[in-house]
Amino acid sequence: MMTAYQAIPRKYRPKRFSEVVGHEAIVTTLKNALKLGRVSQGYLFCGSRGTGKTTLARLFAKALNCLHLEDGEPCNECACCKDFLRGNSLDIIEIDGASHRGIEDIRQLNEAAGYAPSLGKYKIYIIDEVHMLTKEAFNALLKTLEEPPATVKFLFATTEPHKVPATILSRCQRFDLKTLPLAAIKNKLQLICQDLAVTIEEPVLALIALRADGSLRDAETLLDRLLSADTQLTLASARELLGLLPQEFFFALDQAISSGDTKAALALSDELFTSGRDLSATIDALLDHFRTILLLTMKQTPAFVSKEEEARYQKSASAYTNAQCLALIDLLIDWQQQLLKTPFKRIHLEMLLLNLVRSYRRPSLDELVSRLIALEERPQEVKQQEEPKPTPPAPVVQSAAAHPSRYDTLMRFAAVELEGTVTNTRS
Ligand SMILES: Nc1ncnc2c1ncn2[C@@H]1O[C@H](COP(=O)(O)OP(=O)(O)OP(=O)(O)O)[C@@H](O)[C@H]1O
Ligand SMILES: [Mg+2]
Ligand SMILES: [Zn+2]
Repeated sequence: MMTAYQAIPRKYRPKRFSEVVGHEAIVTTLKNALKLGRVSQGYLFCGSRGTGKTTLARLFAKALNCLHLEDGEPCNECACCKDFLRGNSLDIIEIDGASHRGIEDIRQLNEAAGYAPSLGKYKIYIIDEVHMLTKEAFNALLKTLEEPPATVKFLFATTEPHKVPATILSRCQRFDLKTLPLAAIKNKLQLICQDLAVTIEEPVLALIALRADGSLRDAETLLDRLLSADTQLTLASARELLGLLPQEFFFALDQAISSGDTKAALALSDELFTSGRDLSATIDALLDHFRTILLLTMKQTPAFVSKEEEARYQKSASAYTNAQCLALIDLLIDWQQQLLKTPFKRIHLEMLLLNLVRSYRRPSLDELVSRLIALEERPQEVKQQEEPKPTPPAPVVQSAAAHPSRYDTLMRFAAVELEGTVTNTRS
């Protein structure tokens, strides 16, 4: 029998609390409320996109009306559960706040709320994207939320709780869903792959998880997209499908930066420009790369670096100190903002890469300061040693003269790099 194709995020929407990724404390609280029968009249699930707000609201609604609750888990077998799973429950009413935002919609809800539930214990209203309701609709809702019939429960979900009036918020038990950790997302992707009987190398899953930025739905959607393009996903093909630059590009850039090769940097900038990539995405990619290098300089290997790539990465990373990496990242963040405004993308891109090369050679502010302090402390020592002598030669001048070349070089550095904020007061 052919079954209709279902996108991964839909297919793998949890049917039991045990399938929910993360949010352990929230799940425990909900299950306890179910087990003890201590249920508030309203709940609000908020948090960033694709983290499980709608999922939790639906699960909780289903469990509230389940006829054979098993240790706080819905059975998915009883008449109530089955009706809901098929999408024709009379007792659990889902309202999309984005498209039913007016007062008329809420008036209808208020009226229907007066009738007893048909099969289950409760009449449950799930209002998704609740922040979209109009002011009047919120006011109308407030009346029922203040004194709901004992059988009526409200479950709200929103990405923007600050747009929900305080009067509504104060009548709900609120749960803030955090973005999901990379490892948890990767794990779930692994389980899905097992279930779909496809094998994908771990670094690819880690890469997808990283791209998803804490949203499991985004990760599942990406996985879906990649699998439908190529069932034999490798890290290289995944990178290409995701529109990422090949690793070789970054290794070449590291080489150019660490050897001060401006010519190579310009050639790479040319390559970037002609590949027609969006510049802000390019800078994001550069940031990603230097973040990886930064982790490596801190002796951590990010999960999305494959075993094969690791040696290459280590080699690239060994050319940088932690401070150099941070300076490059700072520079990129600065440029990212400038590039949004400029019409001269090509020149900016060239300048950016040249600046990366230059920044590598530039001592960090911290380093300069500590070198200055070291120099300033040195005459002090000399002075103390020489104190018994009756004729005090100017110790500062002498010490500077004792290390003329280092001192002068540093001052020249400071004059240029600190752009006039330090002047050579000793000459
Ligand atoms: N915590 C989670 N545990 C398991 N699956 C999840 C979780 N969060 C998201 N998903 C997956 O992503 C899909 C979408 O999740 P859901 O609709 O609950 O997100 P949401 O927080 O309501 O997102 P939005 O802000 O876009 O409304 C689910 O069907 C499920 O496959
Ligand atoms: Mg949702
Ligand atoms: Zn049930």
